[in-house]
Amino acid sequence: MDAYEIAVIPGDGIGPEVVDAALPLVADAAEEAGFSFETTRFDWGTERYLDRGEMMPDDGLDRLSAFDSIFLGAVGHPEVPDHVTLHGLLLPIRKGFDQYVCKRPNVLFEGIESPLRGYGSGDIDFVVYRENTEGEYASVGGREHRGFDHETAVQSALFTRRGTERIVRAAFEAAAAREGHLTSVTKSNAQAHSMVFWDDVVEEVATEFPSVEVERLLVDAAAMDLIRRPHEFDVLVASNLFGDILTDVGAQITGSMGLAPSGNVHPDESSPSMFEPVHGSAPDIVGEGVANPLATVLSWSMLFEELGETRAADALWTGVTDQLADDDAPRTPDIGGTAGTDDVVADLRSRL
Ligand code: NAI
Ligand code: MG
Repeated sequence: MDAYEIAVIPGDGIGPEVVDAALPLVADAAEEAGFSFETTRFDWGTERYLDRGEMMPDDGLDRLSAFDSIFLGAVGHPEVPDHVTLHGLLLPIRKGFDQYVCKRPNVLFEGIESPLRGYGSGDIDFVVYRENTEGEYASVGGREHRGFDHETAVQSALFTRRGTERIVRAAFEAAAAREGHLTSVTKSNAQAHSMVFWDDVVEEVATEFPSVEVERLLVDAAAMDLIRRPHEFDVLVASNLFGDILTDVGAQITGSMGLAPSGNVHPDESSPSMFEPVHGSAPDIVGEGVANPLATVLSWSMLFEELGETRAADALWTGVTDQLADDDAPRTPDIGGTAGTDDVVADLRSRL
């Protein structure tokens, strides 16, 4: 019997609410599938920052490196600037473990109403492969002449051949596995250096995947088309910034931020991957007990899938889809119900 070691960082706001609620359920799913896991909890985040001036300890990455996987709730606090929380915890983990694939499925589940008229169950089903270690989120730049009229800020985007090739290849592999097609999102009309380079890489890698049809879209058109014709998308690949923005669109058209899962994946086992709901710390609903735990449950499903524990992954994913399809099941207010976080998890446990 395999026993995995999983680091759990609940983080801020509703992060601990959804993470703690889901843990007994995911332990059930593991037991049912014949394996177990130990969790080690790290209370890193904004409380620690307010107390000691750091989001995580200096040796934080070292302490995480031995784990099979990492689960994170959310970070972000109304009293601390978001760049401090993001750069203090989330980005160092993504970059430090070279988690270059940010994988974000967007599925319109049965029983969920899309804000898009005429869209029903299964009509939207695509996955975004977002580059997760460089691009527009590279720490390249600076701020000079603070406070003067000639104050200047420079923020450069970094696109390496290795970094671009590997995310593009991962997306092609996913498209080939789904027997689907790939949409590469750029802005190569305006950004004629980095994005034309991206297009060139896509063209090169495409020769390895003759079965995969490739579409190219500019990011503004992609934002529009995700609303106009979301049923036509299958796998999208995009830079760090573009992928970030488009997946928020994806979460909305498939019903709620509370349903969107994600993985920050380093594909081989040399360092751990990290799974997390797409949503943030939701300060507007914190403490009310109504945060939707399903994005967290689906993210655990992705974590188990990555570990090769397909049975537990499927059980969690199916549990969520069955619950959503059931009109009588409890649901949280973000998807039209009146139930609390715990009711939703209790119902899911009874379904496993
Ligand atoms: P958010 O995702 O926290 O909230 C956006 C809206 O969606 C809010 O109305 C919220 O109530 C709702 N929502 C989010 N998750 C929900 C859930 N599970 N159940 C029900 N409703 C849910 O994004 P926002 O408000 O832009 O940011 C809040 C804080 O979170 C900021 O400090 C931001 O920096 C941080 N953040 C952190 C992320 C992360 O940890 N990966 C991602 C996005 C934002
Ligand atoms: Mg985002």
